[in-house]
Order: sequence, then structure tokens, then C-alpha cells
Amino acid sequence: MSDEKVIAVLGATGAQGGGLARAILDDPDGGFTVRALTRNPDSEAAKALRERGAEVVAADLDDEASLVAAFAGAHGVFGVTNYWEVFSVEREQAQAANIARASVRAGVRHVIWSTLEDTRKWISLDDDRMPTLAEQYKVPHFDSKGEADGSFAEAGAPTTYLATAFFWENLFQMLQPGEDGVLDLAVPMGDARLPGIAAKDVGLTAYGVFKRGDELIGSRVGIAGEHLRLAEMAATLSEVLGQEVRYVDVPPDVFRSFGFPGADDMGNMFQFKHDFEEDYVGARDLTVVRSLNPDLQTFEDWARANKDRFQI
Ligand SMILES: NC(=O)c1ccc[n+]([C@@H]2O[C@H](COP(=O)([O-])OP(=O)(O)OC[C@H]3O[C@@H](n4cnc5c(N)ncnc54)[C@H](OP(=O)(O)O)[C@@H]3O)[C@@H](O)[C@H]2O)c1
Repeated sequence: MSDEKVIAVLGATGAQGGGLARAILDDPDGGFTVRALTRNPDSEAAKALRERGAEVVAADLDDEASLVAAFAGAHGVFGVTNYWEVFSVEREQAQAANIARASVRAGVRHVIWSTLEDTRKWISLDDDRMPTLAEQYKVPHFDSKGEADGSFAEAGAPTTYLATAFFWENLFQMLQPGEDGVLDLAVPMGDARLPGIAAKDVGLTAYGVFKRGDELIGSRVGIAGEHLRLAEMAATLSEVLGQEVRYVDVPPDVFRSFGFPGADDMGNMFQFKHDFEEDYVGARDLTVVRSLNPDLQTFEDWARANKDRFQI
């Protein structure tokens, strides 16, 4: 029998889990194998993983029993939920609790939970610097995951809490031509640093956490690739894209009124990162991340490798 450790990867057809699945597949002598979990084992993304050697297994975050079956015999579980698909804190938290309980029921040795800050620990609901959303949250897609950390502790799941950061891939959609034709990058961050990361590096860093063994169980690991000011990011993009990119420091209220689904949540998120810059940046130690993932990309490296993906 093979003594390779199976990692059951939720979100394997997506950005974070896909990065982890490929990191394991790219390291065939690393001692780990991938079990890619998906609702749809016949999708193109699932087929591509199977062709690369991953075991592909059906599972649904809304169905705890399907997770218990899919986790059976696995050493590790990578747990991620997709708030932007469900748009519901209650549903995302129920999914997180399913991951936690199913991991314990299946006897998994190490869980990585992809999480974010519960911003209400910094800004109380009655603080009117930013609006309260859905009566109970400041940044619903953050608060939801941060509060769900408690489900892992409650279930007794051996968990590493991986606090992620802004994916630079968001920038593909964020550049908009202004009236003069210059590409505007409108974000309410003032002169504050924005921890950001290539989505691929979330997976590579999670792989580094599994490779550490038990060392980081019970710990919180904040990750980022770099902590850059928006003006610095705009300057790098201008150079790489060969076209001027201009940082526009819009007020948070203006960003919240942009009208796309979740604009209020995202506006509050950037305001939180701006107002609590020291804590938010301080929770993501680049030296620790590099020790887990020596190939961690800089923003410039990432932008050069991905410049054809910008919608401009
Ligand atoms: N964008 C950012 O800057 C950023 C930064 C930090 C954190 N995040 C968080 O990242 C999360 C999304 O992660 P991502 O970007 O890696 O995902 P993604 O690329 O949007 O893909 C979503 C993944 O989730 C899986 N999934 C969704 N619902 C499922 C269900 N009911 N059962 C099983 N699998 C399910 C999908 O699998 P199938 O469709 O194959 O079933 C897919 O693999 C969000 O919660 C967001 O808040 C985003």
C-alpha cells in the first residue's frame, strides 16, 4: 500500500483549491496525492485534474454526509467556501461547519481552513464609520469566515487557519478607462498598503503548511505576496501593460455606491483594510509565507506572467 498522504481538496476546480491541487501534482515525489472534490466530476476543470493524475470525487459543501464519504482515508483536508456564489453568511457558515464536523468524523489529521478576519473585532456594529450590512455584519464575506473559525475549534478539528488576502487576479476586471482614455484603478485605500497575493500562491503556501506536518495545527497563518500601495501597483501595471494606469483614491461611500453585487461589502472591506492597516498588514508576515512557499511571486513577476489576461 502506498504511504503517500491523500489531501482532499475542496474548491479544486477553483482558484485556491486549484492552486493547491496543482502544487501537489507538480511535486510527484512530495509524499502527497490529490483527491479533488467537486459537485460536478464531469466538468472541464475536473477532467483536466483527472488527466493530470488527481483522483476526482463528488462532494457538496451543503451535504455533510457527502463530505464524510469524500474525506474517508484522507490525511488532510483543504477547506474553502465560496461566499460569492451563495451570497449568504448563514449558508457559508453552515458549509464551514459541515467541513469541520465531517473532518472529525472521517478522522482527518490536518485541516486547512481558508479564512479571513471577523472585522467586528475591530469595528463594532454601532460604529457608524461604515454602514452595518444585513443588520449583523460590517464586511459580510470576511465576518462570515472569521466567525466560522469557531466551528473548527468547536468540532475539535486539527486546523490551521489560513488567513488569505486580496487576489491580484481581481485586477483583471478592475481597470476601467476614464474619460481621457487612461485606465483607472478606483479603490478606496488612500495611501495604505494592500496585502495581495497571486491565487496560485495561496495553494502553494497551503501545500507548504501540509508539508510542515503537525507544526502549524492550531495556528493562524496570514498570507500575502506583497504589501503594496495602490499607487505602486498602478505604476507597475503601467510599465508592464505599456499603457498608463492611474490610481483613483475614491471615497469608500462612492465605492459602496458603484452598484455591482457586493459593492457595499467590498467598500467596507477596503475601508477596514485602510483604517486598520497596521493590524491587517501585520497579520501577514511575508517572511513566514516565503518560508512556506519559496516560489512566492512578487506583484511585478505576477503582472508580467499574466499581462495577457487583463481586460483592457
Ligand atoms: N477574490 C479575492 O480576492 C479573495 C481573497 C480572499 C478570499 N477570497 C474568498 O475566496 C472564496 C472563493 O474561493 P476561490 O476564489 O478559490 O473560488 P472560485 O475560483 O470562485 O471557485 C469556487 C470553488 O468552490 C467550489 N464550490 C462552490 N460551492 C460548492 C459546493 N456547494 N460544494 C462543493 N464545492 C463547491 C467550486 O467547485 P465546483 O463548482 O467544481 O463544485 C469551485 O471549485 C470566497 O469565499 C472569497 O470570499 C477571495
